[in-house]
Amino acid sequence: MTTLSRETSAEEAERRKQTFQVELFKSKQWEELKDQIMEIERSAFGDKAEMEEELGSEFENPENVGLLLREGKDNSVVGYCLGVPNKDDQTGKTLHISSTALLSKYHGRGLVVKLLQAMDVQARQRGFEFYTRFTRADNNYAGNLQKAYKDFILEVGEPQTTEYGTQVRIRMRIPPEDFYNK
Ligand SMILES: CC(C)(COP(=O)(O)OP(=O)(O)OC[C@H]1O[C@@H](n2cnc3c(N)ncnc32)[C@H](O)[C@@H]1OP(=O)(O)O)[C@@H](O)C(=O)NCCC(=O)NCCS
Repeated sequence: MTTLSRETSAEEAERRKQTFQVELFKSKQWEELKDQIMEIERSAFGDKAEMEEELGSEFENPENVGLLLREGKDNSVVGYCLGVPNKDDQTGKTLHISSTALLSKYHGRGLVVKLLQAMDVQARQRGFEFYTRFTRADNNYAGNLQKAYKDFILEVGEPQTTEYGTQVRIRMRIPPEDFYNK
């Protein structure tokens, strides 16, 4: 019993020590990271996961912004977010967030916010002012985004049934630098 409670508090202490960092995907990293990224992709999207070649070329395209969420203990990649310039906006000011995913065991802890905050920094640095997204409504991600970014939302489309379930198109302004400190 004593051993069990000691182990439990040691585990808790370990869990509390867990830290997460966001890092920019660098050119030529796909080969090294593809197994970890594909595991996240499959864990988040199941049989709707993108093919390795497609996701690899999106990450390796220098126009795109790839972000990795790393878990501090062993530095493994546990999430990613990918931004792709939206060519429909001819002013070049819109970044389309084409995918955001975390390994399923890390869902529900608000960790996505770290990726989104870091994406804002990268997007602003590259001169983007707007995001578009096609977000899932079935797991309430679309609802969470609309709540969290309510002051910045410009357009919310009608829910659409797609092969990925019900999705909603969202266009929003990129929040200002001090948004997350408030
Ligand atoms: C969708 C997904 C990326 C969300 O990441 P997460 O870290 O699990 O997010 P959480 O469920 O912890 O939600 C974030 C919480 O922070 C809140 N929040 C605060 N700021 C937020 C922000 N900027 N954006 C989103 N949520 C925010 C949300 O309201 C939510 O609060 P709640 O706990 O009251 O619901 C993740 O669950 C995932 O990978 N799912 C499978 C793949 C997927 O559906 N990707 C999206 C495709 S469109």
